[in-house]
Amino acid sequence: MELNILTLCYLIGSITFIIGLKMLSHPASARKGNLVAAAGMAIAIAGTIFLYKDEAGNGLHNYGWIFGGIAIGTIVGWMAAKKVKMTAMPEMVSLFNGMGGACAALISIVEFNHLVHGYTVETGAAFFASLNGTTLLIIMLGLIIGSVSFAGSIIAWGKLNGKIKDFSFNGQHIFNIVLLLLIVSLAIYIVVFSPAQTILFFYVVFLLSLIYGVLFVFPIGGADMPVVISLLNSFTGVAAACGGFLYDNKVMLTGGILVGAAGTLLTILMCKAMNRSLKNVLIGSFGGNKAVATGAAKEQGLYKEITLSDSAVLMAYANKIMIVPGYGLAVAQAQHICHELEKLLAEKGVEVKYAIHPVAGRMPGHMNVLLAEADVNYEKLLEMEQANDEFSTTDVVLVLGANDVVNPAAKKDPASPIYGMPILDVELAKTCIVNKRSMKPGYAGIENDLFFQPKTSMLFGDAKKVLQDLVAEIKSL
Ligand code: TAP
Repeated sequence: MELNILTLCYLIGSITFIIGLKMLSHPASARKGNLVAAAGMAIAIAGTIFLYKDEAGNGLHNYGWIFGGIAIGTIVGWMAAKKVKMTAMPEMVSLFNGMGGACAALISIVEFNHLVHGYTVETGAAFFASLNGTTLLIIMLGLIIGSVSFAGSIIAWGKLNGKIKDFSFNGQHIFNIVLLLLIVSLAIYIVVFSPAQTILFFYVVFLLSLIYGVLFVFPIGGADMPVVISLLNSFTGVAAACGGFLYDNKVMLTGGILVGAAGTLLTILMCKAMNRSLKNVLIGSFGGNKAVATGAAKEQGLYKEITLSDSAVLMAYANKIMIVPGYGLAVAQAQHICHELEKLLAEKGVEVKYAIHPVAGRMPGHMNVLLAEADVNYEKLLEMEQANDEFSTTDVVLVLGANDVVNPAAKKDPASPIYGMPILDVELAKTCIVNKRSMKPGYAGIENDLFFQPKTSMLFGDAKKVLQDLVAEIKSL
């Protein structure tokens, strides 16, 4: 009976994961989706702790360790999530993902120790030859993928928060490939032949996988880091699924497969949005020093500035305005005042919409989350393709702290590191007002021709301050 209730708990957990994931795909239901999936996970964990029985009918013990671990994890996770700034979200995701990878690798180490329990020098290779090959294979997979994910995520975390600098050496990609081949060959050798040195080789694979994880992420350019994090996320999912297989735990298996699949899909979508192949991300250096050099070397013409009052008049008497939010809006925390401006303009009869580029900001869905936080109506958010269809009928585009996602070089300059990335065609509108603090480049480190075009005017200043002043100006008209 208890086993049946436990199976039911796992079923509820699996179903709520799937429902939660579905709900996460829309901003209106995302918050609830997260709670639904978390509740399912809580049920699965509670079921395991209180209802699990092994073949001999023994339940779990070590309750002190279990609840101690849960308490520490909850407090640390809660505080980290409360404290984290929106712009630091990718690094937190990376750190949490690394912990998932570490857990998967630890499961493999623990289960390997169970498997080789009873080995003595006398039993030697004969002992290993009798081991279950499938179990050994899953243990090796969980160990390799989990360790790579852990080490890679920690390096990604360090690079994103600036604690770790980019590092690469000549021939690093070849070295990485050789290292990966060595790890895979050694793992196959252990699983197929189970030699007398199996225990030693197991830990060699563990060590090499950690080194591979570090070297794999080290040379990747900063702008590509979210793509790599998403890829590592899918690795952790697969590694956790290996744990589910080892423990014959359906909810762990389902959860791991869902994370693995979702991470893979997200990686593909992000690569598409940046027009980069995954191979290119993994061996390229977009966002690194090369990009800065290309941009800085380019000669630019003159740009023109616009005053606050002129901007206010232009916007208040327009028929249709498109707001293009970018990373700068997030840094300035200007989403609430931006929403206020939108409402004010709407009261004056202006049609206002937002054009959302899929990689605007620093993480997938960054702009959607930010604007949802300020209660902006989802109906007003246009995806890139829809927005591009509407720019030609737009009077004023207001670019707020966005740069790379409106850079025409992505379409016109084959030498540009962002060439081929789909962009928002803001140039098609009648007028374009660009708000940023200076003429400095954005994340890809390159100049932006848009700022020098006749239809574009620069409105310098911190996005929050500029929007506050704009609201005051428009109110006084
Ligand atoms: P960016 O190209 O990084 O440009 C942001 C601009 O905001 C900067 O040029 C900066 O100029 C300005 N800014 C900074 N602080 C500001 C403030 N307080 N007030 C006003 N402006 C401010 O941003 P984007 O256009 O959103 O493009 C995103 C970039 O990140 C792309 O290169 C994209 O490929 C990359 N990326 C994104 C993702 C995801 S999933 N979102 C993933 C990987 C890579 P000033 O310094 O002159 O103010």
